[in-house]
Amino acid sequence: MIRINENYAKLNASYLFADIARRVGAYASAHPDKALIRLGIGDVTEPLPAACVEALHAAADEMSNRATFKGYGPEQGYAFLRELISRHDYADRGCRIEPDEIFISDGAKSDTGNIQEIFAADIRLAIPDPVYPVYVDTNVMAGRTGPAADGRFEGILYLESTASNGYVPGVPDAPADLVYLCFPNNPTGAVATKAQLAEWVAYAKRNRAVILFDSAYEAYIRDPAVAHSIYEVEGARDVAIEFRSFSKTAGFTGTRCAYTVVPKTLMAWDSAGRPQALHSLWNRRQTTKTNGVSYPVQRAAAATYTEAGMSQTRGLTDFYLGNARLIRAAMARLGLACVGGENAPYIWVNVGRDSWEFFDLLLEKAQVVCTPGAGFGRCGEGHVRISAFNSRENVETALGRIGAALR
Ligand code: MLT
Repeated sequence: MIRINENYAKLNASYLFADIARRVGAYASAHPDKALIRLGIGDVTEPLPAACVEALHAAADEMSNRATFKGYGPEQGYAFLRELISRHDYADRGCRIEPDEIFISDGAKSDTGNIQEIFAADIRLAIPDPVYPVYVDTNVMAGRTGPAADGRFEGILYLESTASNGYVPGVPDAPADLVYLCFPNNPTGAVATKAQLAEWVAYAKRNRAVILFDSAYEAYIRDPAVAHSIYEVEGARDVAIEFRSFSKTAGFTGTRCAYTVVPKTLMAWDSAGRPQALHSLWNRRQTTKTNGVSYPVQRAAAATYTEAGMSQTRGLTDFYLGNARLIRAAMARLGLACVGGENAPYIWVNVGRDSWEFFDLLLEKAQVVCTPGAGFGRCGEGHVRISAFNSRENVETALGRIGAALR
């Protein structure tokens, strides 16, 4: 008799964003006359930058010609893209990341979900709360936790991010082996200073731990004092893996392209206490399980590093940050305290009541979709996340409706 992986039974019945989509779908079919505005899942709405579209067209032409046609590409990604990333995203910021330490993939979601496969089953996990649910759920699926009680899984050291620590958890007294960090943060929009990241790097060194640093929202940083990469911290090459994405930077949520940096100097240990390079393990995993990202999409991603591409992607992130400013101002007018939205596309609003109840209120009274904070963890209760990803017109309409609904 074939048996299921019963770790799946420990998870909530569904993935947070799938759950929200189901509730919103049910509301929409019951009220076909009501126009919904979605400020829930962080999905971009503005078209791809023109430089990327031109590159996609040119690559499609190459694929139509026998002389320039491409079959399987390198599983790790094409050298042209890895070199651009190494130069612009790292060397230009004073970080030494070689092109062959960069792995191109279809998304930071896949990579942050899959990376746990290269670590032992019995490692100690430290995961923020609130948090992007993928980090927790993939470790639950892999059997690294016990069952959940009161919204928390046995076996995870939760790093609480609340107003009292400015939504940036300090290093715990207890040791952990694998630490997930995300800055600019999803869902709170908080950013960490270089000094705060340096404390985490020192913690990882002390504990021979690895930090998984998700910086998918790096392109939204406007404060010049905030680090864009964990590798800006001295010594981070020896303790951290970094995840980046073109999704929120250049509108690639549907196009799919991201990358993960695994420095060759980063080690973990086998059961005999011998150091092993994680780069080799991730390379082995990727070459076995994926053929990478399509050639036209990698050409489109490369176009974000042209002069036109850089200015167009900056225009996109500026646009969404403009939405974020409007959302913050509207929340302030309503007397709701909020953080985020200054160096991130998410605004974390303290609604002072049950977050699913507030989600339902906005859906039913304003036809606006947000994300209930409780879905990101116990510390998210009492909050909702509002995403700045939408057209200006929709954001303005949504804010008008929210104002009317809460008056
Ligand atoms: C979110 O809304 O948190 C993001 O869109 C999720 C993702 O990027 O996968």
